[in-house]
Amino acid sequence: MSKKVLMCRPDFFDIEYEINPWMHKENHVDRELAERQWLQIHDIYIALGIAVERIDPVGGLPDMVFTANGGLVIDSKVMLPRFLNQERRGETPEFERWFKLNGYTEIQMPEHNFEGEGDCLFAGDTLFAGHGFRSDLKAHAELKAFFAKPVISLKLINPHFYHLDTCFCPLDDDTVMFFPGAFDDDSQKAIRSHFKTVIEASPRDAERFGLNAVSYNNNVVLSNEAEDLHQQLKDHGFNPIATPITEFHKSGGGVKCLTLELRA
Ligand code: ARG
Repeated sequence: MSKKVLMCRPDFFDIEYEINPWMHKENHVDRELAERQWLQIHDIYIALGIAVERIDPVGGLPDMVFTANGGLVIDSKVMLPRFLNQERRGETPEFERWFKLNGYTEIQMPEHNFEGEGDCLFAGDTLFAGHGFRSDLKAHAELKAFFAKPVISLKLINPHFYHLDTCFCPLDDDTVMFFPGAFDDDSQKAIRSHFKTVIEASPRDAERFGLNAVSYNNNVVLSNEAEDLHQQLKDHGFNPIATPITEFHKSGGGVKCLTLELRA
């Protein structure tokens, strides 16, 4: 099945506020390097045959580059994000406008906080939804009703892994990679019992945002610093494609955060 994603150039990307433990205002972004790293991910997608759509970046919205938080799109239906932090709320109307201009007609604003695909990943026909930091557990019921899909709620307990996509990555219907230390016991059990094959990332690789990855067919695009994970992926028959993400890591982001899947 072909894949289409939405990306946003890092023209205005920087660390202008601190809303997760990775962000430090004095730790400025090297904008040129960020652009190169972003372009490299973009070009990897093109080479893999992934179609890339673009949304224009907007000044004053430095985190808009993280399009994973711009919504959740399944069957061309869009659930918009309701951000916890005031600093990111201005992104929602920008994404809403893009979806409307691009022909999406079923668009919903959630009642409760929900940070898009950053907190909700799809495997098989099941939605895995995170809560505990950004998205509200109450939003999960809204997802279930809107998309008419089963939802498995996963509780995040480690502030360094504040979005589900920082610590959990389904690779195909039966395989997941995740960092157990980011989840409460019941959520770890739910993950292990749902997937046939479970790849556990070390704390080191998780901290290097190796789980913030995008898989397509057998390929997995991820941080070049998550070296053990590269080997684990190879051992399970996947093809890791390593790419640098140092500038985005300063903001608590990686490959996946820069990518929103547009599922028709
Ligand atoms: N600085 C951003 C924030 O804290 C990073 C978002 C990363 N996005 C993601 N899907 N995990 O909101």
